[in-house]
Formats: sequence, C-alpha cells, structure tokens
Amino acid sequence: MRIVLVGPPGAGKGTQAAYLAKNLAIPHISTGDLFRANISQGTPLGVEAKSYMDAGNLVPDSVTIGMAEDRMEQADAVEGFLLDGFPRNLGQAEALDAFLQTKGLKLDAVLDLEVPEDEVVKRIAGRRICRKDSSHVFHVEYNKPQTEGVCDACGGELYQREDDREDTVRKRLEVYHSETEPIIDYYKAQDLVVTIPALGKVAEVTQRAMDALERGE
Ligand code: AP5
Ligand code: ZN
Repeated sequence: MRIVLVGPPGAGKGTQAAYLAKNLAIPHISTGDLFRANISQGTPLGVEAKSYMDAGNLVPDSVTIGMAEDRMEQADAVEGFLLDGFPRNLGQAEALDAFLQTKGLKLDAVLDLEVPEDEVVKRIAGRRICRKDSSHVFHVEYNKPQTEGVCDACGGELYQREDDREDTVRKRLEVYHSETEPIIDYYKAQDLVVTIPALGKVAEVTQRAMDALERGE
C-alpha cells in the first residue's frame, strides 16, 4: 500500500505512522525525521534544512523532493510506504504524482488526521523526542516513557524539539493552513482522502485508521 498521512503539526502523524507502518509491514518515511537525522549527522543537507526548520518554514522543494524520492526508491519501499510530512504543498504533491506515474504506481489513500488546534498546542508543548532517533516520540502527560527523560525504545535521552517553542509552533500552524491544507482538496479531487478523527487514545486512533483502510475508503 502507498499511503500519505496529513494533519497539522502535533496531530500525531509520527505516533500513528509508527503503528500503521508496523501493522501494514511498510516503511514509515518521515521527511521531518530524515531532516533531523541529517542535522544530527551534520551533513550539508542538514545544515541547509536547519535554518528553515528552526524558523517554522518549509525546507525548499529543490531539497525536499529529491530527498523523498531517493528514500522511496530504496529496496524496502518497493511494495509500498507510509509518507509522513510529505507532500506538504501543491508542488510536492504534483511531483509525487509524476514520480509514481513514471513507475506505473499510484497512491491508495490519504489519511487526514483531524485534531482541534487547542489540542495540537497541548500535544506539542508536552512532546519529548529521542536524541538517537527522532521517530521515538513521547509526551510528558499523554504518552509517558517508563523512566522520565529516557527513551523506552533505545535508552536515548529525551529532549524538546527546537521548533516546538511557542512562537515557532504558531508559525508552523500558519504554514500548515496556507501551504499544506490545499493538498487536501487536491487529493479530494482524486477521491483519495479519508478523514480520521484523531482525538482519543493513540490505540483508538490507530484502530480508526486501520478500519478505514480495510473498508477501502
Ligand atoms: P515534521 O517533523 O514533519 O513536523 P510536523 O508536521 O510539524 O509534525 P510534528 O512532528 O510536529 O507532529 P506529528 O503530527 O508527527 O505529531 P506526533 O506524533 O509527534 O516537520 C518539521 C519541519 O521539517 C517542518 O516544519 C519543515 O521545516 C520541515 N519539513 C518536514 N517535511 C517537509 C516537507 N515535506 N517539505 C518542506 N519542509 C519539510 O505527536 C505530537 C505529540 O502528541 C507527541 O508528544 C505524542 O506523544 C502526542 N500524541 C500523539 N497522539 C496522541 C493522542 N492520541 N493523544 C494524546 N497525545 C498524543
Ligand atoms: Zn529512542
């Protein structure tokens, strides 16, 4: 299956993607995680991406599209993938369609995680991620690690993302509304969008998404 997850910052895309990818036996491809891995390795791509991310802006398409395509071309993604955080504007959505078309492939579904804005603000304020692997995500109240400050998955140190500061979060929400939301209409025109109410326990949201995919909506 080839699935796109969309939703505002803090909607729970990364959290859900980890479970959905495991259930569906496809890789979880997060452009945010790819950028953060490049930043922690100090690559030129990471250096370029960091200034945009810290300001809450999108990293330019000229960098992002090639990075996402390279990842989708890796061997583990041949049978499908779950995209988290890509595409994030109309240019990226069109590039993804063109990329899939050259391979005779298409998307199966676009899952739109719907969460009220006051909830995403609470989720982001309490989020802590792992220094060793930014796809290991916790929350100080809603999704506590067994030991405070320590990643359950790998023992890495938990910290607050730099772009989770209040002013940057406001900017990221603005960018979501102006640049990313239009892709929902773009995919509605292709009849691919399934809206998933994303309030409630993590496992309940995962179940809603799995049910929707099984119904083939
Ligand atoms: P990215 O890393 O993609 O961030 P984002 O889209 O802003 O999304 P988040 O990671 O903030 O949230 P999420 O929806 O994954 O929520 P999570 O599961 O962590 O992008 C970061 C930056 O990179 C961008 O600003 C941009 O600069 C750049 N970038 C990335 N992709 C790009 C692209 N394609 N083009 C250009 N630039 C790009 O959950 C949030 C918190 O809530 C966690 O603490 C979690 O434990 C908790 N939680 C989750 N589910 C629940 C629940 N059901 N109940 C209670 N708490 C919950
Ligand atoms: Zn970890």
